[in-house]
Amino acid sequence: MRPSAHHRTAVARCQNAEMTDLEMGAAGELEAAFGPGTSAASGVAPGRVTLLGEHVDYVSGRIACMAIDLTLAVAVRPSADGHWRVVSDGHRVERPAPSMARDIGDRVFAAASALGRFGVVLPPLDIGVASRVPRSSGLSSSAALTAASLVAMLRLAGARLSSDDLVAAALIAEREIVGVPCGDLDPLAVVYSRAGSVLLLDCATGSRETRGWPWPEIGLVVASSGERHDVQGTGYRTRRAMAERACVTLGASGCQEIGDRWRDLPGELRAAGRHIATETRRTDAAIAALEAGDAHRLGVLVNESHESLSSDYRISTERLDAMTAAARRVPGCYGARLVGGGFGGSALALVDRSAADACAAAMAAAAIPDAGTWLIEPSAGVAVLAPDVVTSPT
Ligand code: GLA
Repeated sequence: MRPSAHHRTAVARCQNAEMTDLEMGAAGELEAAFGPGTSAASGVAPGRVTLLGEHVDYVSGRIACMAIDLTLAVAVRPSADGHWRVVSDGHRVERPAPSMARDIGDRVFAAASALGRFGVVLPPLDIGVASRVPRSSGLSSSAALTAASLVAMLRLAGARLSSDDLVAAALIAEREIVGVPCGDLDPLAVVYSRAGSVLLLDCATGSRETRGWPWPEIGLVVASSGERHDVQGTGYRTRRAMAERACVTLGASGCQEIGDRWRDLPGELRAAGRHIATETRRTDAAIAALEAGDAHRLGVLVNESHESLSSDYRISTERLDAMTAAARRVPGCYGARLVGGGFGGSALALVDRSAADACAAAMAAAAIPDAGTWLIEPSAGVAVLAPDVVTSPT
């Protein structure tokens, strides 16, 4: 939603930085819902995709991922009457305290509570959200919402956090306060990604590196299946528990130590063990393919990742299988896989830009109608977007 001229005069951002259209939209939605008030502070954060390394973050695996140019903005201002309110996409919630109620208020209120652990104390807030990251689509709209809320609230409070503390605050909000058993991937990608680059994460050592996207003529198409993905559901929890049990059973501190020993696992853990062991190795092979500029090799790895997620980890759906199969049939597509937590969400295809439209159409034809397709670009994370409040670690 574009704000009216009236809304524009009422919003301001610290440091006189230019507000994006989306931030103006969030501030405009806030004012439209809750009336004029003091100036709003705002923040923006991107969604993310995983190129390789799905479902290995919680077992110390290696991941190649990136923030994307679908972003989400949050605008915040002190509320006039001591209540906490959120408006997002026309939906409003209001409560006397920033408590959890399994609704659209949870993640923004959790962000406010998490900041308290870092000594940033906030007054009750009115909050507006404007998003181009589709919800429940495996593109990390939740981490984007949490990160954009943290940035907006830091700006309002005139406070700063190091990028590592921002990630820590996002994880406290998501895991401890909202209660989602997620790994580290999403906030790391949303905070540390660089424009035009792939972010390489080693969840065993905490190391982060970037590699430039090597192919100007090759891009990534994302298509939503239209099926809701839900990390709070039992599917994600049971996969995580199986992966952790597989590591414990083998005496491995994480999936990088498993190698071929997944074969020694008892039957009920063998397939999950094979997924996490082979997926982290595929990430290493994908990094080599990026460095060698070998798109065909990367495409094969992307396809293998999908097969592993579908057959061994069992987190795909018929629709996602159909969408990835349809993408692969398009000349100019190197590979396709489901992206994110699974059980719905989106599919990702590595494709010649000249074939991007055809590939998007093929995937869309296998998805729920009008679920959405995007040619996405590797984009900057919050550490780059908000240097006024997110500082480099000391
Ligand atoms: C979700 C979780 C992440 C990660 C991915 C799968 O996005 O939030 O921590 O486990 O699924 O790679």
